[in-house]
Amino acid sequence: MYYQNLILNIKNNIAVLTVNRPDKLNALNRNTLDELKRVLLELKDNKEVYVLIITGAGKKSFIAGADISELSKCNFDSGKEFSKKGQKIFDLIENLGKPVIAAINGFALGGGCELALACHIRIASENASFGQPEVNLGIIPGYGGTQRLARLINAGRAAEYILTGDIFNAKEALRLGLISKVFTQEELLSEAEKIAEKISKKGQTAIRSALKSITSINDFTQTEGLNLEAELFAKCCSTEDFIEGTSAFLEKRKPDFKNK
Ligand code: COA
Repeated sequence: MYYQNLILNIKNNIAVLTVNRPDKLNALNRNTLDELKRVLLELKDNKEVYVLIITGAGKKSFIAGADISELSKCNFDSGKEFSKKGQKIFDLIENLGKPVIAAINGFALGGGCELALACHIRIASENASFGQPEVNLGIIPGYGGTQRLARLINAGRAAEYILTGDIFNAKEALRLGLISKVFTQEELLSEAEKIAEKISKKGQTAIRSALKSITSINDFTQTEGLNLEAELFAKCCSTEDFIEGTSAFLEKRKPDFKNK
């Protein structure tokens, strides 16, 4: 499928999706968001894809936010539509049903930070910078930032960054728990691929069940989450992968999962 502002490469069950508008620091305009929705729906159904990595084109930026030239035309009604559209697409990332890794290779501002927040694993390069600078434009984060950032780094810290619009670096993002690891820019993508490869070699029923249980914390109480965990645990116990994983351990060999 042809994409104007995205590059998709699929190899060895790992998809690498690059947002490709480097002259605009990969800002998300309407066309890019439409393409993003299309590719996510395609990847969700693609049985060959076990893990998705999202990154930005060029050496400077992951995604520098929503496209401000389009955003500037919003009024009340179109503003709501603008926000809902991005929220739905980022929900699609979070609920893709397979792991999504953000390889944050530069500016992750506004919608770029929010897109990363919707991913399950976030790693970054040393030059990456983060922030929700929307208040500088007279608006608030509208693609899930007030919710996901507050949940991830706690409400007080999120309030400080969202209310000041301050930008912070990869070291601070690591300290806050917004990202899990920092690499040099040259290493970032291959390190993301190493994580993806490690995940892709496991039994995918276990991977997807673990992911479903983890992401349920957004909507579920702990009691509901524990019930879901037990259901998914039981489902894993009825797979051939479970027999293979436990047999391999007892026979002191590496498991060969077939995703059955
Ligand atoms: N929307 C639209 N265009 C954007 C953009 C955005 N969010 N971010 C960057 N661009 C464009 C710039 O307008 C510029 O285009 P031009 O060359 O046609 O003038 C190009 O990308 C390069 O950006 P520039 O500002 O020249 O790069 P810089 O290195 O000096 O600054 C940033 C980088 C990220 C600090 C700066 O571009 C910026 O503040 N961007 C907006 C970030 C933001 O507020 N995001 C949240 C939006 S809701």
